[in-house]
Amino acid sequence: MDTLIEKAAATLRAAQHVLVFTGAGVSAESGISTFRDAQTGLWSRFDPATLASQKGFARNPGFVWQWYMERLGAMESALPNDGHRALAALGEVVPTLTLATQNIDNLHERAGSHPVLHMHGSIARFHCNGCAGSYTLRAEDRLAQMPPVCPLCGDWVRPSVVWFGEMLPEGVLDECFAAARQCDVLVVVGTSAVVYPAAFLPDLAHAAGATVIDVNPEPNHISDAAHIYLQGAGGVVLPRLVAAMELSV
Ligand code: OAD
Repeated sequence: MDTLIEKAAATLRAAQHVLVFTGAGVSAESGISTFRDAQTGLWSRFDPATLASQKGFARNPGFVWQWYMERLGAMESALPNDGHRALAALGEVVPTLTLATQNIDNLHERAGSHPVLHMHGSIARFHCNGCAGSYTLRAEDRLAQMPPVCPLCGDWVRPSVVWFGEMLPEGVLDECFAAARQCDVLVVVGTSAVVYPAAFLPDLAHAAGATVIDVNPEPNHISDAAHIYLQGAGGVVLPRLVAAMELSV
């Protein structure tokens, strides 16, 4: 592992543009459940068609609203972990770093990474499901049985997260794709990379000749194809990687 960390650190030291692509695994050590890990993954306990689709929301808006309010509370009380902090530190030492996350929490920002491209939206923002007007959450909305009603058109308000079958936030995908085509190094952390179009990023970076580094305790198709696979938890591997860079600068 030490040799691989050294190799990854040397690659990052020489890079001009690094793209970091994160998924639920980077926030796992902050106590936020991933989606597809057996037993603990959200989608092994909850039905994505019910909680992350227009159909599910139309069928049971109250249930969906309450679920996201509970998640919002959990994400607000979670703290950034050493993996988030290491990525923020990496942003300080490489000339250009683009951070693209599929996560709807704001733990990267709270650890000091700026800007963060949220491919799947943010749980802290809200808009009308009908007219798309933005909505500011009120304290009483958090415990409500039903979603708030849009003051402009009367439709339900929803969290500004991407549900299955929906478009990604405007402009964000273009920025991510451009970064994937331009980066010299792609660092993938904590994603199963099975949800598209976000999962195109590793393919694009690979095709453009970038060195791909994958950080994940469980091997998957990304680690199989990566030039450097660092097997382990983000909160353990990433601080070691950043320390190795600083030590050899
Ligand atoms: P997944 O749950 O699919 O994958 C989480 C990954 O994190 C797995 O590969 C785990 O092995 C890895 N992992 C677990 N603990 C880790 C740790 N401590 N450090 C590093 N890695 C760890 O989550 P995502 O790939 O993020 O989409 O899922 C992608 C999308 O699917 C989500 O954004 C969400 C979901 O449906 C939407 O809601 C649109």
